[in-house]
Amino acid sequence: MSVQVRRIAVNTGGGDAPGLNAVIRSVVLAATGRGWDVLGIQRGYAGLLDTNRIVQLDAKSVRGITHLGGTILGTTNKGDPFGYPVTLPGQPTTLVDRSDEVVANVRRLGIDALIAIGGDGSMRIASRFAAKGVPIVGVPKTIDNDLTGTVATFGFDTAVTVATEAIDRLHSTAEAHERVMVVEVMGRYAGWIALNSGVAATADVILIPEIPFDIERVCDKILDREARGRRFSIVVVAEGARPVDGAMVTRGEELGREVRLGGIGEQVAAAIEERTGKETRTVVLGHIQRGGRPTTFDRLLALRFGAAAVRLIEQGVFNHMVALDPPVVRAVPLAEATSRMKTVPLDSDTVMTARDLGISFGDGA
Ligand code: F6P
Repeated sequence: MSVQVRRIAVNTGGGDAPGLNAVIRSVVLAATGRGWDVLGIQRGYAGLLDTNRIVQLDAKSVRGITHLGGTILGTTNKGDPFGYPVTLPGQPTTLVDRSDEVVANVRRLGIDALIAIGGDGSMRIASRFAAKGVPIVGVPKTIDNDLTGTVATFGFDTAVTVATEAIDRLHSTAEAHERVMVVEVMGRYAGWIALNSGVAATADVILIPEIPFDIERVCDKILDREARGRRFSIVVVAEGARPVDGAMVTRGEELGREVRLGGIGEQVAAAIEERTGKETRTVVLGHIQRGGRPTTFDRLLALRFGAAAVRLIEQGVFNHMVALDPPVVRAVPLAEATSRMKTVPLDSDTVMTARDLGISFGDGA
């Protein structure tokens, strides 16, 4: 079934990821090519709560942005309209449901469909707006690669590429000084970035949230290498990794946003130094993994996702997310995409490959 569309809108929500601009360009060119009007909503859904934050997008406004990191629309990970942080003078911040204002503005602006580009949080919000009658299509983005229903999210390949290159570089300095280098990478509750970059860059130990580690096993691996004349080691730690007898390390909570992870690298490094006597350094890659130009894979995926989202709108398919299911891009219900988090399966081929290569997960297996 095809529907009569005059105007669509697009927003980018959650943490930025390389490839967002490529999606925006693809959406705008595919939509304007069909004679549709395109509005850009700035800073996630926040722009729909403040009409000064809505911009008209045309071919000219998306010229030359495919290869650029960030997002020309801006983003936020504190803008959930169903729990919007509001701070009145002299009072503590509270969460207010402003979703009906968003729905009213979508109608007032004559938006026939909204393309929401984001990660798991944004897809959950999209699903709730769909339930309120907003015609919505999701586009999966996140460097964490933790969205169900799609083989890959754009941004992930870039993050893994950046991390791999960083670990490659740390090899030479680790070897020169006979040190242990602990590299903390992002990924929230999933170990995809740590696993893929660690295997590709031939780390000696990889610690991921899916496999709680025993620090003694980590040190065994380092000391075993030492005994064989390999006097340096590389340990890649996902920010969500945790010891068998401990919890994830967080950086404190803030109302209206997900808890921030980080700091496990420093703890692992201190424990290694204390137990092995080896000089150990920590490198936290942080937002470098999210910044800058997307890889070719991410650009192409982002362009394919953007055009596919427009085709879904044309076909009248809403409440779905575009998803990579090689070799095709297909639509999956938002309910399916948000049903659970995609974490690293313990029997995954990459985990088995790592073990066959002698890489330790700190679990004694
Ligand atoms: O979800 C993407 C991500 O980069 C995570 O890997 C990380 O935990 C988080 O966002 C960092 O968020 P912020 O940019 O708000 O510090």
